[in-house]
Amino acid sequence: MTMEQQLRERAIETIRNNDQGSYTIPSAGLYPFQWNWDSCLVALGFARFDRKRAWQEIETLFKGQWANGMVPSIIFWADVDDYFPGKDVWDSRTDPATAGHSQPPVAASVVWSMLQEGIVDDKERAAVLFPKLLSYHDWYHKCRDPDGTGLVAITHPWESGRDNSPDWDDAMANIKVDEDLGDYQRKDLQHVDSDARPTKEHYDRYLTLVNFGRKCRWDPMEIYANNQFLVVDPGVQFILLRADRDLLAIAEFLGEQDAVAQIKEWIALAEQGSEGLWDGDLGGYCAKDLRTGRMSPGLSHASMLAWYAGLAGSERKEQMAKAAWGMLEGVKYGMPSWKAGTEGFEPKRYFRGPVWAIMNHMIAKGMREQGENELADRIKSDAMSLIAEHGFKEYYDPVTGEGSGGDSFSWTAAMALAWQDGKD
Ligand code: GLC
Repeated sequence: MTMEQQLRERAIETIRNNDQGSYTIPSAGLYPFQWNWDSCLVALGFARFDRKRAWQEIETLFKGQWANGMVPSIIFWADVDDYFPGKDVWDSRTDPATAGHSQPPVAASVVWSMLQEGIVDDKERAAVLFPKLLSYHDWYHKCRDPDGTGLVAITHPWESGRDNSPDWDDAMANIKVDEDLGDYQRKDLQHVDSDARPTKEHYDRYLTLVNFGRKCRWDPMEIYANNQFLVVDPGVQFILLRADRDLLAIAEFLGEQDAVAQIKEWIALAEQGSEGLWDGDLGGYCAKDLRTGRMSPGLSHASMLAWYAGLAGSERKEQMAKAAWGMLEGVKYGMPSWKAGTEGFEPKRYFRGPVWAIMNHMIAKGMREQGENELADRIKSDAMSLIAEHGFKEYYDPVTGEGSGGDSFSWTAAMALAWQDGKD
């Protein structure tokens, strides 16, 4: 067997081992339920060897969709008690029990990429999913941007999927921690070294925000109006914009004409809103704190999703590419989640430096589509080297390459499978 074949076999085995039948857990022990963007990206992996199972992964996720359209970040399918904060803390009052907020909405993009391969019953399954995808996007635009500014907010760092990014250090520092938070036991630290996870200062604030959401019964309008944390994450903004474009392609493909005008409006609004994230000095798009109006001080790997969102306009093309190459300075492996050598960079701590294969995947895909092949090649091959040398880890130190966080991680294995098949 060649090295490539071995990697493929191991990737399939990793996903199969995490497969619970109709959904896949991200990693045993650390994450024992279904996570939103994990499942969608894992479907891209399943699509390389079991297409029916790929569709099922997304269909199961949408079984947790709320009546208002939201697709939660976590669905607590299993009755296990080794995750914190668990379903009692969230208290979603839904069946199945879920978390109270969402995650980066990659679902439509994954569905479109599967549809483009066009195999027999894909169209039927996509047609069933379409109204659900539409109502998910509608929820994002209405509930996370109720004033129609073209900028969608996140109401919790967890909603970005990039929990402790320096992008919102300021916004986090402004949160007044609940006095009655009491003692709580973090379960993540039973699995991963504390140096590689968010700090207690951050956890206190994460829980304060969950408590607020629960107290207002997860009413999105109340949360938008009064939550202590309201930030525009370029990650969610760009993933949604990309997903809107892909949803439009699905609508046209399925002949869902009624939805077309609405989706086009969302796209136009988001293109315009995204201008508000541009930082000419940095040559990229940054996060913005909607409570203070302040921009984040640097570029992250989420800024590098601008190509993926279709925003690499010709007048900015060179500046953006220069900034992307700048992100690769001072590290051996790109794309670091935060620029090395700048304040906030911690090469081992989660989203403050480490490389994440899923982010590399979307970044490289966007860059390739926009003709930045050299950058795309570098970002893809760095991730593939990390995977080949260190296995399917949750994330990797960009300086030493050492893998960290959870082991045998589903979406990392899925990205390897997609890349091997030439799917950027
Ligand atoms: C962490 C990550 C999030 C991911 C989840 C499961 O919470 O921040 O992005 O979805 O783990 O992998």
